[in-house]
Amino acid sequence: MNDMLPAAASGSSGTLFGQVPGEVSIYEVGPRDGLQNEKSILPTERKLEMIEGLLDAGIRRIEITSFVDPRWIPALADHQEVAQAVKRRDGVELSALVPNMRGLDGATRAGLREVAVFMAASETHNRKNINKSTDDAIRTYRRVVEEARARGMRVRGYVSCAYGCPYEGPVALDNVQRVAAALLDMGVYELSLGDTIGVGTPRQVEYVLRGLMGAGVGLATLAVHFHDTRGTALANITVALQLGVRTIDSAIGGLGGCPYAPGASGNVATEDVVYMLQGMGVKSGVDLDKLVTVSARLGGYLGRELPSKYLKAHLGHCARIGRAV
Ligand code: HMG
Ligand code: MG
Repeated sequence: MNDMLPAAASGSSGTLFGQVPGEVSIYEVGPRDGLQNEKSILPTERKLEMIEGLLDAGIRRIEITSFVDPRWIPALADHQEVAQAVKRRDGVELSALVPNMRGLDGATRAGLREVAVFMAASETHNRKNINKSTDDAIRTYRRVVEEARARGMRVRGYVSCAYGCPYEGPVALDNVQRVAAALLDMGVYELSLGDTIGVGTPRQVEYVLRGLMGAGVGLATLAVHFHDTRGTALANITVALQLGVRTIDSAIGGLGGCPYAPGASGNVATEDVVYMLQGMGVKSGVDLDKLVTVSARLGGYLGRELPSKYLKAHLGHCARIGRAV
């Protein structure tokens, strides 16, 4: 289908896609963000199968679980078993969310070399999601990040609600910049900007990303994390790519959502992102056929139709030609 396209426009100045990188890193959040809000809890062995399938498809960075309080996120109560059981592979970075020192200790016991801390650019979301004010969250994470780094771990930082909050509505760029600066100052190596409830639109994405870069946040430090609640995720990712962003978060099947962000639906689907990247001539190292097989199987395990558009098209095509998925 893309034979008609000239070679990837990447690097050619003066075109709409002139800044688009030739290669991007997909950061898979399916086993964590994807499963944390699912009604039917996937058994541990199915989670491990999911993670193995994603790694077999070429995913190299993946958030496998969350060391949060299981009373807050019951779907990931098996975090210790999952993190210990995933087979280590060369070139694969496994990570997990940690909300405090207790979470960091769990991740350390499981032998993880990377963790992620998370907070919102909105005061109310921080109180609802992690039971802390923004200032308390910053104080807590300062100790967590310092200790993680002393243990030789890398730490990623999320700025959630970067484009809007389910409780407060619009979120000021100042707040996003303040939380981003605090996380970078602690020593996180990457900032993932979360559109937690999927309200962002393309010009807003340009405004927020340029606002961070203008405040000194390096392009190589930025990752984007979109939820597709209102169908704008791929358009938003295109803008991020046009600005040169090289890390994209996504979840297999379009799974996901935060139980403490009412109205949030799934993350942008990894297979939808990979399909778009392929069409744009941007390498991700991920095999789309293998990916969609994992996605189709997960839909069966969870007993529901997953939101991924690519998956739907693929299932329809297989049904029409009488081919197994
Ligand atoms: P708290 O109740 O304030 O915690 O919860 P606490 O420190 O007061 O301790 C109370 C009890 O919790 C104690 O147990 C602790 O041991 C226990 P007790 O003495 O009562 O038996 N506890 C823990 N148990 C297991 N693991 C832990 C842990 N910490 C304390 N790590 C806390 C504070 C942060 C723990 C809680 O609010 C929590 O777990 N929140 C997590 C909620 C969550 O995971 N939300 C979804 C995240 S997704 C997101 O935020 C957006 C993102 O995906 C990006 C995007 O989409 O935009 C990242
Ligand atoms: Mg998310």
